[in-house]
Amino acid sequence: MFEILERQDMADGTVVLNEISAPLIAKKAKPGQFVILKANETGERIPLTMADTDPDKGTITIIYQVVGKSTTLFKSLKIGEGFQDVIGPLGQPTHIEKLGTVVCVGGGTGVAVLHPIARGMKEIGNHVIAIIGARNKDLLILEDKMKAASNELHVCTDDGSYGHHGFVTDVLKDILEKEAVKLVVAIGPVPMMKFVCSVTEKYKVKTLVSLNPIMVDGTGMCGCCRVSVGGKTRFACIDGPEFDGHEVDFDELMQRLQAYKEQESVAYKKFLHE
Ligand SMILES: Cc1cc2nc3c(=O)[nH]c(=O)nc-3n(C[C@H](O)[C@H](O)[C@H](O)COP(=O)(O)OP(=O)(O)OC[C@H]3O[C@@H](n4cnc5c(N)ncnc54)[C@H](O)[C@@H]3O)c2cc1C
Ligand code: FES
Repeated sequence: MFEILERQDMADGTVVLNEISAPLIAKKAKPGQFVILKANETGERIPLTMADTDPDKGTITIIYQVVGKSTTLFKSLKIGEGFQDVIGPLGQPTHIEKLGTVVCVGGGTGVAVLHPIARGMKEIGNHVIAIIGARNKDLLILEDKMKAASNELHVCTDDGSYGHHGFVTDVLKDILEKEAVKLVVAIGPVPMMKFVCSVTEKYKVKTLVSLNPIMVDGTGMCGCCRVSVGGKTRFACIDGPEFDGHEVDFDELMQRLQAYKEQESVAYKKFLHE
């Protein structure tokens, strides 16, 4: 068993943090990589990006939004309990290099995935400008950690309850007008990543996005996670999850993410009933 050592409810209980004992994964994992977890023998395989790792303590941290059957089951696990299986690190790590000014844009739980990348970019000597957003103040996560991981932090809320009233793309446009930005890293809901890419395309600034298609094995064998990038089929689990955002077919990704909505809803209702 992979024991849960620390547990926190975030964003009004819609998001949960688990610090899990997984010494071998913690030793090898790099920013941008993910794990696949199963709560129990009959559990679904759920991919989640590592929001943090501590090789000395032998732990990895995951932060997940509670959206359906398996994440609701994960939420019920207490400190001292754990996951039957955790496999990883999976996927390609983020290529961290010294470039100059790097803008890191995060939305919703995407901020958790962005945090180790922003920290790595700053540690290597980049000037990191972070922009994080949420629907409202209560749903915002990791503000303090993102402040420490960046040289400049901008916070946005859709309803104006905190920080800039509006979308992360408004602030991004202002920054791109004023600064010579070398790279944008955008992680969050698919529509947000799509809109960030349409802004950065106009300014011709390279943009990395982290894709979250439905995955099964996570090792390149089932083809479930296929995405179209630059007109070619790529597997997000082994070729990604990060890709050049200007080449991604976001509309196809959104369509594929909806493919099992009906079955997901039935499974969730059945789980709650049982
Ligand atoms: C590489 C990767 C990293 C991810 N990292 C995070 C993270 O750090 N934090 C976070 O909150 N979420 C993350 N996700 C999304 C997370 O895996 C899904 O929210 C989760 O699988 C939902 O499962 P469920 O049973 O609770 O919900 P369901 O009701 O089954 O599904 C809800 C939605 O989640 C997605 N989903 C369902 N099953 C899968 C699956 N097997 N693989 C991928 N997506 C699925 C679909 O879009 C679906 O419509 C990541 C996804 C991928 C592919
Ligand atoms: S999840 Fe099966 S090939 Fe990527």
